[in-house]
Amino acid sequence: MAIDIVPTGAALGAEIRGINLAEPLDDATFGEIERAYDEHGVIFFRDQHISPPQQVAFTRRFGEIEYNIFGERWSVTGSPEIVVVSNVVENGKSIGVKRAGENWHSDMCYTTRPPRGTMLYAHEIPDLYGLALGDTEFASAAAAWDALPEALRQRIDGRHAIFDFTGRKRALTPTQVEIDRNPPVRHPIARTHPHTGRKCLYVMRDDCTGIEGMEADEAEGLIAALADHIVKPAFIYRHQWRAGDLLMWDNCTVQHRAIQDYDMPQRRVMHRTTMGGAVPV
Ligand code: SIN
Repeated sequence: MAIDIVPTGAALGAEIRGINLAEPLDDATFGEIERAYDEHGVIFFRDQHISPPQQVAFTRRFGEIEYNIFGERWSVTGSPEIVVVSNVVENGKSIGVKRAGENWHSDMCYTTRPPRGTMLYAHEIPDLYGLALGDTEFASAAAAWDALPEALRQRIDGRHAIFDFTGRKRALTPTQVEIDRNPPVRHPIARTHPHTGRKCLYVMRDDCTGIEGMEADEAEGLIAALADHIVKPAFIYRHQWRAGDLLMWDNCTVQHRAIQDYDMPQRRVMHRTTMGGAVPV
């Protein structure tokens, strides 16, 4: 199958053209897609028409399905692997998780094995006067690492930050059982991508509550400085969604945030799947 990989022109991201995800993908074509994913951090396919089982099967080619606390509350009927991300309320009930991911983050960084990546399939996209709303922004933590002064790289390389599940204000309040299931973990501040070997900054405000071997005040200042550096405009790609987009990001090289510039009656309905990853090194 002939595919075209068209970089966005930003620090990350590429559109993959010439693929119909509703049809079987041979291994060679899948290999090309996987290489583009590793290289560009974010890839997307426009104009797709896939069923929930097809999304799950495509996700599984990248790794085993990872479940999170949202899926326990808002999964697709018959496909518990898919979380519904949506602002829509029907009969007084939210059909999905609302306001998910409005602050910069990398998914499930508070776990010992954060997921390799996440896939979002756009069912309904809000708009106003024909202008799409509800974009998602992505920042390249790899480009951010490359742009650090050498002295700062040496200062932080080999250090570990503490990631605390309770640090971030979430779209829903977790239960005590969920908090107990997710005790604080440590990860390297400079992660190495398992496939490309590229170094990536792995630091976020709120999720990171300290740096091992560093006084709290100094750690707080350094976490804030690094987190702000990652999301500078030079490292960002902003995706303007269309219904039928299937987009996936890499949770090692990329941080993301959802822009909440819409509200009912503007409807946004997305199906999210997540695939398992490795312990960060
Ligand atoms: C998320 O952080 O998974 C949500 C992203 C989005 O809805 O754009």
